[in-house]
Amino acid sequence: MKYTKEKRLSYTEKAQRIAEKMTLEEKVFLMSGSTSFGDTPSGEARVEAEAALPQGPDAMHYNFTPYPAGGNEKFDLPTMRFCDGPRGVVCGTGKSTCFPVSMLRGATFDTALEEEIGHAIGREVRGHGGNLFAGVCINLPYNPGWGRSQETYGEESFALGQFGSALVRGVQGENVMACVKHYAFNSMECSRFKCSVDCNRRTEREVFLPHFKDCVDVGAASIMSSYNLYKGINCGHSDYLLRKVLKEEWDFDGFVMSDFGWGIRATVEPANNGQDMEMCSTVFFGDKLVQAVRDGLVPEERINESAARIIRTILPFEDAYRAHKPIGKEAVGCKEHIELALKAAREGMTLLQNEDSVLPLSKKSVKKLAVFGKLADKGNIGDYGSSRVFPAYIVTPLQGIKKTSPGTEVVYYDGYDAETAKRIAREADAAVFVVGYDHNDEGEYISGEQLGSIDGSEGGDRKNSLGLHKEDIELIRAAGPENEQSAVVMIGGNTIMMTEWMDCVSSILMAYYPGQEGGTAIAEILFGDVNPGGKLPYVLPYRESDLPQVNWETTNQFYDYYHGYTKLEKEGVKPLLPYGFGLSYTTFKLKDAEFKAGNKTVSATCRVKNTGEVKGSEVVQLYIGFKNSKVNRPVKLLRGFKRVELKPGEKAEVTLTCPVEKLKWYNPETAAWELEHMEYEVYIGTSSDDGDLMMGEIEL
Ligand code: BGC
Repeated sequence: MKYTKEKRLSYTEKAQRIAEKMTLEEKVFLMSGSTSFGDTPSGEARVEAEAALPQGPDAMHYNFTPYPAGGNEKFDLPTMRFCDGPRGVVCGTGKSTCFPVSMLRGATFDTALEEEIGHAIGREVRGHGGNLFAGVCINLPYNPGWGRSQETYGEESFALGQFGSALVRGVQGENVMACVKHYAFNSMECSRFKCSVDCNRRTEREVFLPHFKDCVDVGAASIMSSYNLYKGINCGHSDYLLRKVLKEEWDFDGFVMSDFGWGIRATVEPANNGQDMEMCSTVFFGDKLVQAVRDGLVPEERINESAARIIRTILPFEDAYRAHKPIGKEAVGCKEHIELALKAAREGMTLLQNEDSVLPLSKKSVKKLAVFGKLADKGNIGDYGSSRVFPAYIVTPLQGIKKTSPGTEVVYYDGYDAETAKRIAREADAAVFVVGYDHNDEGEYISGEQLGSIDGSEGGDRKNSLGLHKEDIELIRAAGPENEQSAVVMIGGNTIMMTEWMDCVSSILMAYYPGQEGGTAIAEILFGDVNPGGKLPYVLPYRESDLPQVNWETTNQFYDYYHGYTKLEKEGVKPLLPYGFGLSYTTFKLKDAEFKAGNKTVSATCRVKNTGEVKGSEVVQLYIGFKNSKVNRPVKLLRGFKRVELKPGEKAEVTLTCPVEKLKWYNPETAAWELEHMEYEVYIGTSSDDGDLMMGEIEL
């Protein structure tokens, strides 16, 4: 079905009729999960699950089967069956397709591809027996050290909204409910259960919330409230966030669920303030909620509202799904989905430096290739938190290199002895360093206790700096200069600082966490079978101090209006690499820019030509500038983008359009979005750097 809000609303009366016939207990039952936190399947489900495990019963893990909630046989109401994401479907073992993490997907600037990924994920959710995908993570990393930034699409609210909406459309296009998380301000991991975020009204409305509204506007079925507090109130209890903003102002008609385990911490407050579902087990809702209604602490209308929201959301998805041939296990990890994961990896990797066009390496003349770094030989697809996907296989960078250039002798050194590394680099025709992070360095924080062991913890926010590990820096500084054809491949979920070592190598490729076929894509790019076309979904500064600072352990954090590229631009600080930057093996020329303002939209058009020798993709970007504003506004903001692929010599005309709505600012005094009537700068080009943009002016 083409999922629409209208479709869901057409179920309102039916849902209300069903809810009216239900007892209080039955309605409240719909409002919480039926699992114990961390449960693995039991009984028959366990026997079946274990039999399916290629690695044996030990491979059973958190999230193995979809987490159920609600349902009622008497009224033919299906359960909600929850699956995590976003890098694929976190169910089963050795089966699901592991896509690149969202940060890489954000670097593709290709929302059509994201929608396709959404379809593939939707089919895999159904293949696993689920009906809800809670992997639309669109939190904005205020500081890139946030451990879970890999799960989101970059620093830009506009881009987050575009990508989140694309994933929602794709997933829901397969009759699977999409859940958008974590609402809101969830950009710190280590202190996520205790930290209260604060910011002013404009920051809240213009920077941290618009992307959630974008997903609501495309009909997202569900929203997950976050663990953290906002202005001292748990987000899962917040009347302001849940009722006033989400349900009243944005007219959200789906249901809200809490994050798992610690997402709500009371019965009456969250129930009264708009929380519809406690996940994943019944702790504060259930009997306690029934009692609270009987005691007059929670009006029964509130329960009716939640029940009706849940019913009218689940029913249209299930009805539409039942009208088609069911999707079976064959969809999970199928060839087409793995191809799509590879396509995304190829599109998102971002070439950041390429002195003397050292990349691509020639398969013919690079007879001997030195490969350095522990991560070269590691299947490294992201953190070990709730987004961990278990694919059938992972291609490591080393395997990818060997497969892609079988005629090249590969000398692999995973040690750190400087003299040995220097010698190996000298004796080879080219040298590649695979460095960066893994699940120990960043990701969802999983304590030793949660892992069922006592040996420490994993993930969390980046501990010391945004740079590489000391031993990697020393390795690159020692061995890089020994070979004129040297490249660094960086693995990680967000910004990695480069200033300390970038002069020691010719080329740098950002590979993020590239999914199960990542090693293939890395090698294809290194050897030129694929031309990189990804663009940085964040700014790369010279100094970490150019970015907003946070205390990862704090209980109180203020988020400023400016972060990322808007902060650097406002302060006149030049970045090392601008937002939206990425190199290619070909060249593009942009010209003939034209700018137009209509009543409802602003648009910019230009001609793009591939002026080089090979096929390649360029991401054309639209920014709006606010120089004439009477209020404090960013220098400019991204307001459109389009990825175009062109053959050598081929030309295209690209038009980017932005709704005037997206030019408004939020006036806290009138509590309204206002359009300034003034001259705006409109930019079209290939990164946020002025040198890469053509500028015009329009009057509104
Ligand atoms: C995470 C959510 C996730 C949930 C269920 C929580 O700890 O914050 O992102 O969806 O667990 O696994």
